[in-house]
Amino acid sequence: MTQISGSSDVPDMGRRQFMNLLTFGTITGVALGALYPVVKYFIPPSSGSAGGGVTAKDALGDDIIVSTYLQEHQAGDRSLAQGLKGDPTYVVLKEDNTIENYGINAVCTHLGCVVPWNASENKFMCPCHGSQYDATGKKVRGPAPLSLALAHADVTEDDKLVFTPWTETDFRTNEKPWWT
Ligand code: FES
Repeated sequence: MTQISGSSDVPDMGRRQFMNLLTFGTITGVALGALYPVVKYFIPPSSGSAGGGVTAKDALGDDIIVSTYLQEHQAGDRSLAQGLKGDPTYVVLKEDNTIENYGINAVCTHLGCVVPWNASENKFMCPCHGSQYDATGKKVRGPAPLSLALAHADVTEDDKLVFTPWTETDFRTNEKPWWT
């Protein structure tokens, strides 16, 4: 009898240990989950962010490598990248084939369509209701009420492109930026 009850204790012990393990695991998981933001706070930001900015990403979600990007795009080009808050943002190439120090947010200020660049017209032309913006993103035709938003665009030492918020005067209108 003793032996039988002894042997039946074994699975009980096993179950208890298993339950303990499960509880421990759950608590550990919760604790780690709670700690995550704290730990993350102390880890220096990765290349994904820098001083309120973001590293510009291509259509595949990879960081744009500037030297490669310049080989693949022509002077005057405006191509979309993923910018601040994930907004589609144009990387502007100057005539000397370097990157302009601002990017242009592609979201139409009318009702939010992504505005394509029309190279032959040298304008951004919204297909939704016909708004137009010049090569700097300044509104030249409504119904859009405002120019396209700007972001600073800077090339980092490690050959990446970083967008940071543009909070200064809008050089196209000499007004306070409407997007801040
Ligand atoms: Fe661009 Fe209406 S959303 S013109």
